[in-house]
Amino acid sequence: MALVGKLAERGKFISFEGLDGCGKSTQLEKLASSLGLLGVPVETTREPGGTPIGERIRGLLLDSRTHGLHSSAELAMMVASRAQLTSEVILPALKMGKWVLCDRYVDSTEAYQGAGRQLGSERVLELHRLLCHDLWPDLTILMDSDAGASVQRARLRNRFANGLDENRFEKESRAFFNRVHEGFLEIARRQPQRVVLIDARPPINIVHEEIVRVVNERLFVSGTASAAPVQG
Ligand code: TYD
Repeated sequence: MALVGKLAERGKFISFEGLDGCGKSTQLEKLASSLGLLGVPVETTREPGGTPIGERIRGLLLDSRTHGLHSSAELAMMVASRAQLTSEVILPALKMGKWVLCDRYVDSTEAYQGAGRQLGSERVLELHRLLCHDLWPDLTILMDSDAGASVQRARLRNRFANGLDENRFEKESRAFFNRVHEGFLEIARRQPQRVVLIDARPPINIVHEEIVRVVNERLFVSGTASAAPVQG
């Protein structure tokens, strides 16, 4: 009986995935507000980064002055940041019963390094198993958008960002982002029980309502409290 009690108390883990500039960070914040209104304890975080060590790794990975980074080294740094985040933040928060909303998780590595950099899925999944406790989200919201329009939006946004240079990936080719896009779709096809594809193109509030619907359907047992969309 005690074991059942403990399992029931574990928080839920939701990741948001998609191409650069698809709007996932905005949607993550809106879902966090909806859950907060319901009294659900929420922890939000992001990748690469989310811990002091991870944020330093992020700086190196995203700065367009980082030249000549080998694709295997890039993969290792993404996984290093995740290993730190998983051990330092995500697992402890879930154990405390918090819901963790993470801006990108292992699917980004499979899509960007596995498909985009053509390192293959197997290597990514093996490293995840070895170094990140083989932890998987309970639910992944995959925001599907047009590759060209999303990346253009990210480029414009980053050009005017708070003095930080986070443009290294946005400089990649159209072919690279098409491979990443296809990589994400392949993951969704393979794991429909975990990954839900959401059309990212409608207005923000419509997309938010759809995400709230999916969270209610997938993560709240019928008859218990359910989240409602937040306005604005
Ligand atoms: P992010 O800050 O989410 O950028 P955006 O808001 O533009 O979507 O992610 C930073 C970049 O890092 C993004 O281009 C995707 C890339 N990335 C990988 O290549 N592999 C990974 O495992 C992760 C987590 C991110």
